[in-house]
Parts: sequence; C-alpha cells; structure tokens
Amino acid sequence: TSHTYEHLKVSAPKPGVALITLHRPRALNALFTPLLVELNSALHNLNTDASIGAIVLTGSEKAFAAGADIKEMKDKTFSDAYGTDFIEMWSDMTTAVKKPVISAVNGYALGGGCELAMMADIMYVSAGATLGQPEIKLGTIPGAGGSQRLTRAVGKAKAMELILTGDSFSGKEAADWGLAAKVFDTPEQCVEGALSTAEKIASMSRIAVKAAKEVVNKSQDLGIREGVDFERRVFHSLFGSKDQKIGMAAFAEKKKPQWSNE
Ligand code: HXC
Repeated sequence: TSHTYEHLKVSAPKPGVALITLHRPRALNALFTPLLVELNSALHNLNTDASIGAIVLTGSEKAFAAGADIKEMKDKTFSDAYGTDFIEMWSDMTTAVKKPVISAVNGYALGGGCELAMMADIMYVSAGATLGQPEIKLGTIPGAGGSQRLTRAVGKAKAMELILTGDSFSGKEAADWGLAAKVFDTPEQCVEGALSTAEKIASMSRIAVKAAKEVVNKSQDLGIREGVDFERRVFHSLFGSKDQKIGMAAFAEKKKPQWSNE
C-alpha cells in the first residue's frame, strides 16, 4: 500500500484490508488506459502483499466510474482495438487477483464502470447509485463482460431489456435483483460496510478464503456435476492445510482459532 499513484488512492484503513479509490474526479473516473495500468499495478501489488487479506474498490460519491473513456475510444479502428487487445487488460482483476475484491458502488457506474463493479467478487451499493450499460446509445455494446455478468446475475429477461435500451437502474434495484449483495442508505455507509465485510474476510484463514473464492467462481463456468466434483477435490485438499486442523481443533476446544495461513 506504500506506492503512490496519479489516478488512484490506496490505503489500508482496517487490519488486513486495502482500499483502492479511483481518483480521476474531472472525468467522473472515466476508465482510460493510464488509470487501468495503475489499477492493475495496485491490484498485483496487493495480491502479493502478505499483510492484505481483502480489497475494497470504490470511487467517489458522485461516480464509481462513468464508463470507459469515450474520448479515448471514439477514433479507434478495428485494427487498433484488435491489434492492442483493447479491454483485455481489464480482466486482470478477475484472473490475476486471488484475494476477494468488494466493489463499493456510489454515484454513476455506467458502461465499463458497471462492468468493473461486476468483476468484483462482491458488490455493495448505495440505494441512490446509478448503474447501467448505456453502450447501445453510443452505437456499441458492452465490452468488458457486461453482457455475460449482468445476464448471469439478473437473468436474461432483465439483462436483455437493460442492454438493448441502455436504461439505467438504481442501487436499490441492483440489490433487489441480486446483482448487489447489500444496499446502504448513504455512500459513506456503503464504503464502511464494504470495509467491515473485508475486515471480516481478512480475519479468516487466507488459504480457506482463497479456495472459497476459487470454487464459487468455478460455478460460473462449469455445469453442476463438474462444479460439485471440483468443489469436493478442493475441499479434500484442504485437509492438507494447517488451518483446517487449527480451525476444527479450536472449535472442539472452545477457543478462537489463530490462523497460520498455511
Ligand atoms: C469520457 C467522460 C465520461 C466517459 C463523463 N466524462 N463520462 N469522459 N468518457 N465515459 C466527462 C465529461 O465529458 C465531462 O468532461 C466530465 O466527465 C463531467 O461529466 P458531465 O457529463 O459534465 O457530468 P454530468 O452532467 O453530471 O453527467 C454525468 C453522466 C454523463 C450522466 C455520467 O457524464 C455521461 O452520460 N457520461 C457517459 C456515460 C456513458 O455513456 N458511459 C458508457 C461509456 S461506453 P468535460 O471535459 O466536458 O468537463 C463504455 C464501453 C465499455 O463504457 C466497453 C468496454 C469497456
């Protein structure tokens, strides 16, 4: 957490918890390449930082992020986009980061901003947040997983309607539909709530948390039988961890477990 960035703020406000705040206020945190390069660098650093067990990603009260940067994209050609694998670097959060990430969404989370929020493992929102996939109104479509993640989260009927109309939806709706895990009255409560949950997760065995995230994510890619088989393999493998012994012995002895993270 000791690095400094131009378009992000990174801090460690609670034990084991890192907070990344997107900070490009003049453009409502529009996600241009320099910001994403920094975000990836911060995520990679935190992923290997042994003092950190969970990460919260937020923006400002006004905007989590108002989308990919339209001004950066508008003149791109197909070969620019294809040749540079435009958007591929956005997936680092879902591939390289093995620690839980909670997005705390306040204000606008539109287009790529909504997609970034959905890449997190858990999404928290404030009731008044404005989410949406407005790409259709710009003559294009979601490009950072929105059509897939939104559809899995809210079902095809609602996702199709939202993506074809570009209509936005509120934080309250996001929670009602199951896209967000919790809704809060105010932006401060949303960030505070995310930090508390992150602190709770960071207090668990790191090895069990890593395995839990891995198996839940597998459910998005596998059928139920393969998914359950995969879960069982990982469950069996945790009998080889010290923390399974520590956790179950502590229960039997009515003590609080002191995790070894091994
Ligand atoms: C570039 C953006 C931006 C964006 C806002 N800004 N969103 N710049 N890309 N996505 C800039 C504005 O140009 C403006 O800069 C400044 O931020 C403040 O924005 P305003 O529009 O003046 O603020 P406001 O009137 O409060 O309106 C807020 C807003 C509006 C409703 C969120 O900014 C908006 O509609 N933004 C675009 C939302 C969108 O379409 N997102 C999807 C993008 S496509 P200046 O210099 O004028 O002050 C996308 C594709 C993803 O994300 C595909 C794969 C990643």
